[in-house]
Amino acid sequence: MRKAGILGLGYYLPPKRLTNSDLEKMVDTSDQWIMTRTGIKERRIAGKDIATSDLGIKASKLAIQDSGLKPEDIDLIITATITPDMAFPATGCIIQDKIGAKNAAAFDINAACSGFVFGIVIAQQLVSTGAYNNVLVVGAEKLSSIVDWEDRSTCVLFGDGSGACVIGASDNRVIVSSFLGADGSGADLLKLPAGGSRMPATKETIKQRLHFLKMEGNEVFKIAVRIMVEAANKAITKVGLGCEDIDLLIPHQANIRILMAVAKRLGLPEEKIFMNIERYGNMSAASTAVALAEASKKNKIKRGDNIVLVAFGGGLTYGAALIQW
Ligand code: ACO
Repeated sequence: MRKAGILGLGYYLPPKRLTNSDLEKMVDTSDQWIMTRTGIKERRIAGKDIATSDLGIKASKLAIQDSGLKPEDIDLIITATITPDMAFPATGCIIQDKIGAKNAAAFDINAACSGFVFGIVIAQQLVSTGAYNNVLVVGAEKLSSIVDWEDRSTCVLFGDGSGACVIGASDNRVIVSSFLGADGSGADLLKLPAGGSRMPATKETIKQRLHFLKMEGNEVFKIAVRIMVEAANKAITKVGLGCEDIDLLIPHQANIRILMAVAKRLGLPEEKIFMNIERYGNMSAASTAVALAEASKKNKIKRGDNIVLVAFGGGLTYGAALIQW
């Protein structure tokens, strides 16, 4: 088995900012409520003519450039998203064509907010066995396209963006351990009810606003802390490490209160938690992808650091990956 590591990273945020004061004009909410309950100040919103693949392409090009490879060197593209351009074809295929990765296979995965962590674990396994050499993992979302802009309990939380990384054989930035989990009994807590085979689109589903994301926020909140802590612990103890060995925790950016509770339970001080939720909100699969690339770009990580990526999301899904930088 070869070691698999991160060869390159990239991220992209659409330029348009939607601030809490903008939201005050759209629904019955306040900057103060959003800040204290979530830690979010603003989020990015992609233009009407932009799809998830367009966001993913920008981050992918940067990640490939950062790796020093050419698009033709990529042999697999894994795209994690819950907002694909269409139900099919896979958004990854659209990205493959537009970035010129003509030697790559491509598919999408749906593990909601945990999607990027699931993607890098799959990539690591395929590189370690020698089945693939340079795998591009993309986390991209246009959540603004499935958010109900009349529902104040969800519309303040989400934003658009993309992050990507190239994983290949490497002795640096090695993915040394991981843990993935799921609890389908929580499937109803976070969902987009209509438009699939269970409830195809009808005039009635549109009238009832069933093509928008629904969330039992309170329930998700309670479970989130427990499963993120469990995932992080399982990934680090597998290789004989403890929480005290974590140099930086890069969590899914769902809610600042969830992140603080996770940090407390893991015994980590605030400065060991990477956060960008204030600027971008929750970008589902793109959140950990952007956070990892941004933490690296802003020199928050140094050689030899133990980095733990941890996420949870719709499914419910949860997972963590330990990267030795
Ligand atoms: N502005 C003002 N008031 C609001 C707003 C708003 N935007 N939204 C809800 N409220 C009100 C509610 O109506 C309620 O009023 P009431 O007491 O009169 O009934 C009150 O605020 C408290 O509501 P709660 O839902 O109890 O607020 P809570 O503190 O739980 O915060 C939140 C809600 C932010 C959604 C929180 O539960 C949360 O973050 N949950 C986790 C969500 C999450 O992490 N999702 C991640 C997965 S996303 C994915 O996988 C795609």
